[in-house]
Amino acid sequence: MPAVGERADHVEGSHGPGRVILDGRRASSHIEVGTDHLVNGRSALALREFMAAEKLDPKNPRVHYALADAYLARGKTVEAERHARRALALFPDYHDARLFLTGVLLVGNRYEEVISECDRLIDDPTFSEPSQVAAYRDERFPAGQDPVALGVDPKFAIKVDLTKDQPDNQVHYSDGSVFRLGSLTKDANGKAVVELFGDLKQHDMGPGLAESIDEAGNGRAMFLTRNLWGVGSSGPYLHDGRATTLTEAILEHGGEAQSSRNQFAQRCTRSARASQCAARSPSTKPK
Ligand code: HEM
Repeated sequence: MPAVGERADHVEGSHGPGRVILDGRRASSHIEVGTDHLVNGRSALALREFMAAEKLDPKNPRVHYALADAYLARGKTVEAERHARRALALFPDYHDARLFLTGVLLVGNRYEEVISECDRLIDDPTFSEPSQVAAYRDERFPAGQDPVALGVDPKFAIKVDLTKDQPDNQVHYSDGSVFRLGSLTKDANGKAVVELFGDLKQHDMGPGLAESIDEAGNGRAMFLTRNLWGVGSSGPYLHDGRATTLTEAILEHGGEAQSSRNQFAQRCTRSARASQCAARSPSTKPK
């Protein structure tokens, strides 16, 4: 498969290569303008720009990803999903688009599909920077520098295998032990294991955590379980940030989590023991 930015099929079109390159550049300009609209909350204008880009460059996955983003911002999840899938059909390794699709499916409570998409994401442990999609790159950095001159040639993404140690991701403790930052372990089949510490489900968390309005229409006290990976350094906690420590966050649990909360409270009644419990959080205790 050719790199996405090359769009070899276009080059064979009736207008000739020059026209194709020009259309691709014009499409990129529309995407840039549209992205600016989108980040500033002008989703209708963004959509118009992305549609113009699609007319010029209908087989560019980045265009479809941008369209998906704008449709989602306008609450049109069916169209958002359609364009995310189109982007993936054009470029199956488009991680950002797959992650986006996973989010759309999650919002629709389509957990089986979410798991299947997550599996596909996890199966490929490589991370690329800039994006793997050749067309999804800045010709210039925001301050005007040329990325190539600074060693970030968009043609060659920097690839990192997340299951392997990177040169600078080891912390050496004085007792001789080593903590590896960021590298994922592998299972018996050689697949990366992502310790999500979450169940991807929504739960009734009881009146104590309930919001005053039912924003999502599924109950004032219904919240998606937070993935607890890295939770040791991601406070403040809970949907409204009311908890500044892990202990507080757990003690705020009610509803379906009441019995877990009570068990925690029983074991951690004295503050010394409470801090011991909190110290066993996923990111503070290396395996
Ligand atoms: C002792 C076991 C548990 C621990 C240590 C724990 C820990 C936590 C922590 C630290 C948070 C805050 C994360 C953040 O804001 O980034 C959290 C949020 C959450 N947990 Fe638990 N949890 C436990 C059990 C449960 C159970 C049994 C349920 C459901 C049946 C549950 C459902 C949730 C939900 C829905 C949230 C999000 C609440 C919100 O955003 O306001 N948890 N949990």
